[in-house]
Amino acid sequence: MTGNASDTILLAVTGWDPEIWRTEFAKAAPSRKLVLDADTDKEKIRYALVWKQRQGSLAGLPNLEVIFSLGAGVDHVFHDQQIPDVPIVRIVSPDLTMRMSEYVVWQVLDHQRLGLRYRQQQSQRIWHEDRRQPAAHEVTVGILGLGVLGRDAAQKLRMLGFRVSGWSRRLQTIEGVTTHFGKDGLKDFLKDVDIVVCLLPLTPETKGILSMTIFAQMKAEGPLGAPTLINAGRGGLQNEPDILSALDRGMLSAVTLDVFNKEPLPKDSPLWTHPQVMITPHAAASSSPQALVPEIVAQIESYERGEPLKNIVDRAAQY
Ligand code: NDP
Ligand code: OXD
Repeated sequence: MTGNASDTILLAVTGWDPEIWRTEFAKAAPSRKLVLDADTDKEKIRYALVWKQRQGSLAGLPNLEVIFSLGAGVDHVFHDQQIPDVPIVRIVSPDLTMRMSEYVVWQVLDHQRLGLRYRQQQSQRIWHEDRRQPAAHEVTVGILGLGVLGRDAAQKLRMLGFRVSGWSRRLQTIEGVTTHFGKDGLKDFLKDVDIVVCLLPLTPETKGILSMTIFAQMKAEGPLGAPTLINAGRGGLQNEPDILSALDRGMLSAVTLDVFNKEPLPKDSPLWTHPQVMITPHAAASSSPQALVPEIVAQIESYERGEPLKNIVDRAAQY
C-alpha cells in the first residue's frame, strides 16, 4: 500500500488541456510520474485520473487500483464499456460546490429579478419598471437532486429568503427545505415549483427526465408566469426539442442551460437565438486543477496509509 517513486499515474483526458493538470501534479506530488498515455508504463500504473477518457484507455492495466474522476459527475467514466472493476472516486470539493452554488444563485436571482426582460428592454432603450417583481419569499425554487451540490445550493437559496423544495432518489432532510423523493414524490414536487434547478447526475434512470412529461405536471401560473428551468446537471437529462416546444407554448417562461446533449452546442441549434434562453458553455462549476489536484493527492496519500477512500461512486446506481 505504500507509494513509491516508481508508481505512475495515468492522466486520461479528452476535451481538456492536460498540461495544467500536469503542472499542478508536478507541484503537489513531485516524486510521482504522470503519463498521458499508458503505452509505455502499463505495469506501473496504480491510479488513473480521468475526464471523458477514450474508450478502452483504462483496459489492460494490471495494477490499476483507483480511478479518480476529475469531475463531480461520472457519466463520462461509464461511457467507456471497458472500465476495470476498481473503485471510482469522484470530486467532492468545497471549491467546486461553491462555484456551483454561485451559478445557481446567480441564475435564480436573474430570473426572479427579470434579468432577461430588462436586458431585452435595454437593447431597445425601453424604460419600463415591471411592478410585478416578486419578492424572494413569494418564489419556490425546486431542486432536482439533493446531493452535495443540491444541498448547498438549497441552503444558500434559503438564506436569501426563497422557499425551497427538493427531490432525490431516497428521502433526504434539510432544515427549512420541503423534500420529496422517488418516482412517487415527483408529482408533488412539481406542482408547487416556480423555478426548477436541475442538479441530477446523468444515469440510466434520469436520462431525458427534463421532458414534456414533467413540464406538463408543473403549475401553469406563478409569480414569474409559467415556471422557469435551470439545468446545470448534464445535457443528457434534457429533451431539447421539448424545452423549445414548452417555451413556445408558454409552459416554461424562461430557461437557463449550462449543459447540452451535444457539446459544444451546435451553431445551428435554435436554443442559441431563443429570446427566453440563457446559455452558458458547461461552465457552471469548472474543475479547477489548482484546487482539486492537492485534494486528489491527499486522497492518494491517505489511501496509501491504509485509510478508506472517500466519495466512491455506486457502480449500480452510476453516480
Ligand atoms: P451527488 O451524487 O452528490 O447527488 C446526486 C443527487 O441526485 C442525489 O440527491 C441523488 O439522490 C439524486 N438522484 C440520483 N438519481 C436519482 C433518481 N433516479 N431520482 C431522483 N433523484 C436522483 O452529486 P452532486 O450533487 O455532486 O452532482 C450532481 C451532478 O451535477 C453531477 O452528477 C454532474 O452531472 C453535475 N455537475 C455539473 C457541473 C457543471 O459545471 N455543469 C459541475 C459539477 C457537477 P439520493 O440523495 O437519494 O442519492
Ligand atoms: C463535473 C463537471 O461533473 O464539470 O464536475 O461537469
